Amino acid sequence: MERDGPLIRSWYPLLPSLVDHYDLFKNLDAARAIVNHATSVNDSGLTVLEIGAGGCLLPMFLHGLTKIRRHDVVDLDFVIPFGFAMLRSFAPGVSVALPGEPTEDASLRFHDNNNLAFDEAGHDVAVNITSFGEMTQGNVSEYFALVAHALRSGGIFTCINRNAKATRFDSYPWHSITGDVLVDEVDPTSGYHDPDPIFRRIVRKH
Ligand SMILES: C[S@@+](CC[C@H](N)C(=O)[O-])C[C@H]1O[C@@H](n2cnc3c(N)ncnc32)[C@H](O)[C@@H]1O
Repeated sequence: MERDGPLIRSWYPLLPSLVDHYDLFKNLDAARAIVNHATSVNDSGLTVLEIGAGGCLLPMFLHGLTKIRRHDVVDLDFVIPFGFAMLRSFAPGVSVALPGEPTEDASLRFHDNNNLAFDEAGHDVAVNITSFGEMTQGNVSEYFALVAHALRSGGIFTCINRNAKATRFDSYPWHSITGDVLVDEVDPTSGYHDPDPIFRRIVRKH
C-alpha cells in the first residue's frame, strides 16, 4: 500500500488517454497477432521487449493468451507508475520489477528511457504500439537500433503506428531490421479512434 497510494495519484490523470475502450480493442488484437506469429526457442515462454507500454494492456493480454518468460517495458519515468498500478490491479499474478529493483524473479521488468542500460539480445518479440509517433526521428532511430540488437534471428518486430504524427510510420528506418515482412496492412482496429489510418507491420528478423 505504501507504494500504491502515491502511484495512484500520479497515474490518475493519464487514465483517459491510455485505457479507453479503443486501447483495449487495439491491444487485444495486437496481442492475438503477436501470439499468431511469434515462436519461442523452447517451452519456457516468450521474451518480449516493448517500447512505450503505457497502461500495460498489451503485457496483460499477452500474459493471458500465452506463456511469457519475460516482458521488458521501456517507458517514460512518469508513465511507469501508471503501468505498474494497472498490473497490480488487473494482473496481480505478474511479478514486476520497477527500475532499480532486483530483476531475477520478475517476469515483467520496467526500464526508464532516461537511464537505459538495456543491451540484452535474444528476444522473441519486440513491439511498439502507437508510441513512436510521439517521439523525435532521433528517438525512433535509436529504438530501431535497440530492437535490431535485442531481437534474435527469427524473432518478430510488431509496429503499429500512424503517418499523421510528428514522426511518420513511412519514414521509420525500416532498413535497420532486415527480415521478412509477415504483415503489412492498415491495422484492423484502425478508424475507430480517429479517421487517420494506423498501420501494422510485422517483420521476422533474418
Ligand atoms: C499513446 S501511448 C500508447 C501506450 C500503449 N502502447 C497502448 O497502445 O496502449 C504512448 C506511449 O509511448 C510512451 N513514450 C513516449 N515517448 C517515449 C520515449 N521517448 N521512450 C519510451 N516511451 C515513450 C508514452 O509514455 C506512452 O506509454
